[in-house]
Order: sequence, then structure tokens, then C-alpha cells
Amino acid sequence: MPAQINPSILSADFARLADEAKAVHGADWLHVDVMDNHFVPNLTLGVPVVESLARATDTPLDCHLMIEDPDRWAPQYVEAGASSVTFHVEAAAAPVRLAREIRAKGARASMALKPATPIEPYEDLLPELDMLLIMTVEPGFGGQAFLDIMLPKIRRTRELIAKHGLEMWLQVDGGVSASTIEQCADAGADVFVAGSAVYGAEDPAEAVRALRDQARTASEKASWVCGH
Ligand code: DX5
Ligand code: ZN
Repeated sequence: MPAQINPSILSADFARLADEAKAVHGADWLHVDVMDNHFVPNLTLGVPVVESLARATDTPLDCHLMIEDPDRWAPQYVEAGASSVTFHVEAAAAPVRLAREIRAKGARASMALKPATPIEPYEDLLPELDMLLIMTVEPGFGGQAFLDIMLPKIRRTRELIAKHGLEMWLQVDGGVSASTIEQCADAGADVFVAGSAVYGAEDPAEAVRALRDQARTASEKASWVCGH
């Protein structure tokens, strides 16, 4: 799968979300950060806003749930119109059951790992997922510095995906910018969330195109890509 760019609306103007979605026209997905002030020390938006946003844009919604009790809430985000729903494994009581429920409701199921959570205990769960999200900052806020100590985890995850012959996507989120995206692509990521690097740019749509070009060029050269 060629590299995809998912602008995070956390860095957008929340009073003008429909316009901000249009401002990144051409983006592969719109990344929607849901925070509950319990799982992370910040509060953003919930199901009604996702419902409205889904009606206001043709770009599919990639909902990243940084909330407690995703087992209870995640299915509602599918019903609200999200095409991909990511829950944190640290918060899920029954991640396999939850991933199956998300898929059964018709969305892509994705699981996120905070920086201190290793991938290895979850190797057997990978076939249940359409995407794995490796956080490259501590979740909660946009504009933080990229944690390059996560690059080995990205590499090991890509190896596990290849070992099991899976089609799943590998997303990185946090501090992804023109100066860090190539390292992520080289390590094995193929879906890139970018908040401040897109919405902080003068022309957000152009920033998406430039990041995507950079990521695609870097992945073409990367050793993990089939055929190398
Ligand atoms: C952080 C969120 C990210 C955030 C990324 O917890 O999950 O999606 O918006 O913002 P940047 O790209 O500015 O690090
Ligand atoms: Zn996010």
C-alpha cells in the first residue's frame, strides 16, 4: 500500500471543522483525536461531533480513541460514521472481541500502543487488526517532539507483519513532519498522522502532498518493501 497521510484535526480550528476538512482536500483520511481527560490529560470531542463531521466531508474519518472503556464506546464511533476506529490496548478490556465488533460493524479495526507498550505480547492479535498505531509521542497533545526511540519498535512491528504475511497497515502518530517522516517510512510505517506539520503550514493541502511525496520516496528505497 503506498504511503498515506492523515492530517490530525487536533491542530485545526474546532469552530470551523468542516472548512478545516476542506483545507486538506486530497488527504487520504482525516485523523480525529478523541480524548476523555481520563486516559489522557486532555479533552476534545465525542460521538456527536464525529457524526456531524462525517456528514460534512467525503474524506474518510480515522478516529483515534484516547479514552477509557473503549469496549463500550468504540462501536458508537463506527455508527457515527468513522471508517477506521483505533482503540488503545492499554485501555481495552477485551481487545480481540472489540476488534471483531468494530469489523463486524463495517469499519477498519485498529489498535494503538503508547510509547512504553511493547508490541511483542500482541503478536498473536495482529490478524484481528486492519492497522496498528505506534505512538511516537505520549498521547494527549499535538506539537510534541518526535520520539526517535520508537523507530526500533516500528521496525520490529513491520517484521512481525511480514512474518505473518498480513496486509495490515502500520500507522505512526506524534511529531511526524518533513524532518521525521522519512525515518518512519524507512522503519516500516505506511500511514502517517500529521497535525501541526499540516495545519501549521501556510497551505495545508500542499503540506499533505509534500509529506506524501517524501514518504513514498523513502518507502520505495526501504528494505522492508516487498521486492527489495
Ligand atoms: C496526540 C494525537 C496526535 C496529534 C499529533 O496525542 O494523537 O494525533 O494530533 O499532532 P502532531 O502531528 O502535531 O504531533
Ligand atoms: Zn492521534
